[in-house]
Order: sequence, then C-alpha cells, then structure tokens
Amino acid sequence: MHATIALLPGDGIGPEVVAAAADVLEAVAGRRGHTFTLTRSPFGAAALRAGDPPLPPATLETCLAADAVLLGAVGDPAFSEGPRERRPETGLLELRKALGVYANLRPARVWPGLEDGGSLRAETLRGVDLLIVRELIGGIYFGEPRGRTSDRREAFDTMRYAAHEIERIAAVAFESARGRRKLVTSVDKANVLESSRLWREVVAEVASGYPDVRLEHQLVDSCAMRLVSDPGSFDVMLAGNLFGDILSDEAGAVVGSLGLLPSASVGGSGGLFEPVHGSAPDIAGRNLANPVGAIASAAMLLRHALGLGAEADAIETAIGAALDAGCRTADLAREGESSLSCTEMTRAIVDRLGPGPTGGSPRLRNG
Ligand code: IPM
Ligand code: MN
Repeated sequence: MHATIALLPGDGIGPEVVAAAADVLEAVAGRRGHTFTLTRSPFGAAALRAGDPPLPPATLETCLAADAVLLGAVGDPAFSEGPRERRPETGLLELRKALGVYANLRPARVWPGLEDGGSLRAETLRGVDLLIVRELIGGIYFGEPRGRTSDRREAFDTMRYAAHEIERIAAVAFESARGRRKLVTSVDKANVLESSRLWREVVAEVASGYPDVRLEHQLVDSCAMRLVSDPGSFDVMLAGNLFGDILSDEAGAVVGSLGLLPSASVGGSGGLFEPVHGSAPDIAGRNLANPVGAIASAAMLLRHALGLGAEADAIETAIGAALDAGCRTADLAREGESSLSCTEMTRAIVDRLGPGPTGGSPRLRNG
C-alpha cells in the first residue's frame, strides 16, 4: 500500500524518537512491500522559534491531508512562561481538536523481562496489561469559561462534559473491552463533581448495550492507589481528559518507564499517534531517549490508521524480543547494568523485525 504519514518531530527528545520511529516504519515498508511518504513539519517550540504559532497553518494542512500523523513531543522550558497562544502545548491541543480525535488509547503492559526492573514487586507486576481510554478533546482542558479576573489574583477553568461526548468515548472503551478481558473501570470523582455525576450516569447507560462487558465505577483517588497496589486488576480504564492524563503517567511508572508507553488518538480523521512521554529537555540531543514509546506508537499507527495489523504485530514482537534479550535504554537499566543509546536500541528492534512474508531477499523471476 501507499500511505502518507506526517511526522511532527516537535521539541526536546521528540526529533530523536521520531527519527527512530521513522527508521522502523521504513524498515517495515521495505520488508512488506509498502511505500510510505514521510513528511516533516515544524510544530511546538520548533515553530515558535521560527516566529510561527505552535501549530502553523501549513503544518495543520499537511496533517489534515495525511493518512496519519506521528508526533514526537512538545514542550520547552523557554516558552513555558509565555501567554497561552505562544506555548508549545497549545499547538498540541489545537491539533487534537482540529483532527477531532476524541479517543486517546494508551496501552500499558509489562514487557517480558521487565517484571523485576520497576519499583513494584515482580508478583504485583506479572501479567499487567491495561488500556487507558482517555477522552481527549473535552473536559477541563477545553471548558469555557477559563481565565483570570482583572486583578489577575483569581483564575478559573471549567470541567464540562456533554452527554454525547461521554457516550462516544464510553462506546470506545466498551468496544475495546470486548476484544480484551471484558472489564471497564470508569474513573470519576462523582462524590464531589457534577460533571462526574453525569459521567457516571451516561457510562452506565452505554454499558447496558454491552451486557457481555462488566462495568465498575471507581473514584479517581482510590483508582490512583489501586493502580500501584493491584495494577493487574485493570483491563480497560475509562477516564476523562484530566484524570486520564494523570493516570497514564502513573501507569508508565508502574510498567517500568514512561518512555515505553505509546498512544493512539482516534475517532476523527486519520489519527494522531504519539508517545506518552514528554519532551524531556534534560536529556534532549544526547541520544539517551528511550525510542520504544515512539516505535510502539508507529505500530499503533499502522494498526489503527492504515489497517496493517500484521505489520503492527511484527513491530511489537520485535520490541518484546529486544527487551527480552536484555536491551535497555538508560531509563530501564538498573544499577551497574550497561545501557544502549536511542539509536542502538532502535537498531536492536529493527534487527528483530524478521524478513517479512516475501522473504526479504530479492526473488529471482522464473527462477
Ligand atoms: C500528554 C501531555 C499533554 C496533555 C500536554 C503536553 C498538553 O501531558 O499527552 O499526556 O496534557 O495531554
Ligand atoms: Mn500527560
């Protein structure tokens, strides 16, 4: 197949991990006989430095025209104090909204060989495999009114959800659970927040259409605790924008490193794929970043945006094989263990991609 993929390297370690994901996409294309046209556009602080808004109109146009978008990371301390329209993160929120990608899928699992690398006991971690389904273009991230009073000494945001926004994200969670272990844990703060009371009501309505899936409601504070004490008890975790943001970083720490987590944002046109980690300015440009989150995001892109499930599986198998063989970036290495650079880790994964169904080597015609 032929597909156009818009790459947005972004800030910090973004360009390094996007280069890694692009290498893997190219390797897969070569092995499976696809052609991917990869374009690169300025985004985030990289765009601000050039005097453009964080999401330049030409970048948005490229993204809307592409079959899918793969993003590295946004965020740069040099712009963190500026007004909202000149913050890199604003570009990301605008892009999500413009693409209409309301469903953010963030799988977190313990890869083979990493059970005893994290801060939790190996027994607690064994078999952890959960999917966070996070609402992405509503809630307190976008609710109006928001702002400051005229004396600037009071500030406010609005957590607001309409029933139809809850319905569509809940449907994604229940559909996902059907292909998994058939449990949805819906996260809210219904003991305090009005928007959470509506959330709980609507999720229960949607659940009645999925009698084969079990639904449980959980308050976000106790959910955060359960995620570290019994992470294996979750299958699909359904959450609004803010709670899903917070819990997904926690899930990253649970499975060993935030650098491992990929994400897919779908529901609108094409799809936006990005590692869950941020721009990590402290290690940017030093070839130290963990490329797994970005490479696994590329796998999700192939599966969700291009329908290339076998290719996605091949990438995930290669990641698992590299980790199982002891390949570790600095974030994963334990004391005294040696670690691979970003490019070495990428090579370790590409080397394990296998030859592909056509055998990989040139075939002799009539031969
Ligand atoms: C994420 C990030 C973003 C978010 C930031 C960079 C705006 O933390 O994708 O989790 O809060 O959604
Ligand atoms: Mn986040």
